[in-house]
Amino acid sequence: MTKQFAVIGNPIEQSRSPELHHAFAAKTGVDLNYQKILAPLDAFETTVQDFFAHNGAGMNVTVPFKEQAFALCDQLTERAKIAKAVNTLWMQDGKLFGDNTDGQGLVAAIQALGWTLEQSRILILGAGGATRGVIYPLAQAGAKQIVIANRTVARAEQLVEDLKNSVPQTALSAIALEQLTGEFDLIINATSVSLTGDALQLPESLVFHHAYEMAYGKKSSFLDQAHARGVPTSDGFGMLVGQAIEAFSIWNGVKPELKDFL
Ligand code: ATR
Repeated sequence: MTKQFAVIGNPIEQSRSPELHHAFAAKTGVDLNYQKILAPLDAFETTVQDFFAHNGAGMNVTVPFKEQAFALCDQLTERAKIAKAVNTLWMQDGKLFGDNTDGQGLVAAIQALGWTLEQSRILILGAGGATRGVIYPLAQAGAKQIVIANRTVARAEQLVEDLKNSVPQTALSAIALEQLTGEFDLIINATSVSLTGDALQLPESLVFHHAYEMAYGKKSSFLDQAHARGVPTSDGFGMLVGQAIEAFSIWNGVKPELKDFL
């Protein structure tokens, strides 16, 4: 029987998840159908319940419902608990399970670029949900140091407080965006500036050797500045594919190769 999957969000038209999952299915021989579901802003929970009541096998969750999905689950993976957000849902023994595959998607994308995370010094710009979701997987992948820089420094400090015990092997700290300085192996833009069309100014005193933009398909002043310095760069398409592969493998027990879909 064809397994039924969906991505739920609002808006949802822009989602590329159906094409990715259908491509993984074609490659691995899994029989599935993956659709987009636009949930009303006040009806996330009933839409999810309805999907699983009608034999839905698994769901991805996108903006703005990842925190609601987290609150709805009966069982959470460790990384979802730490992220406080869920992007992957499935039913098992009558219970709703939730995971967050975004961080591992980023790790897989960075590794596919051939960039080393082991013993790395990482600077993350932004302290919202996108940052929260990737700290633990980056630490698990061997990051030695992670500095969170944010316009509102108190938010970055709060994240450090919340997460430091989950990443005991990684030196985690916070700084204000306007005080950016130092040398890093990798800088990750997890702010929403490239989505809103704003710009970020990276100071000359900040040295970095690789630059990853979590957004994709948008003009990015962050990537423009990295290009101007001649460092290797990537936009967030690999992370998108990476999180989708993680979800696919949880649901279907078979893991497509990231490099086949970049
Ligand atoms: P998400 O869940 O996608 O991370 P968010 O929680 O709204 O979204 O966080 C957006 C991040 O982008 C925040 O770190 C925000 O900084 P503040 O915490 O100071 O608001 C950052 N951001 C948004 N616009 C920005 C701008 N123009 N300059 C610098 N940082 C910006």
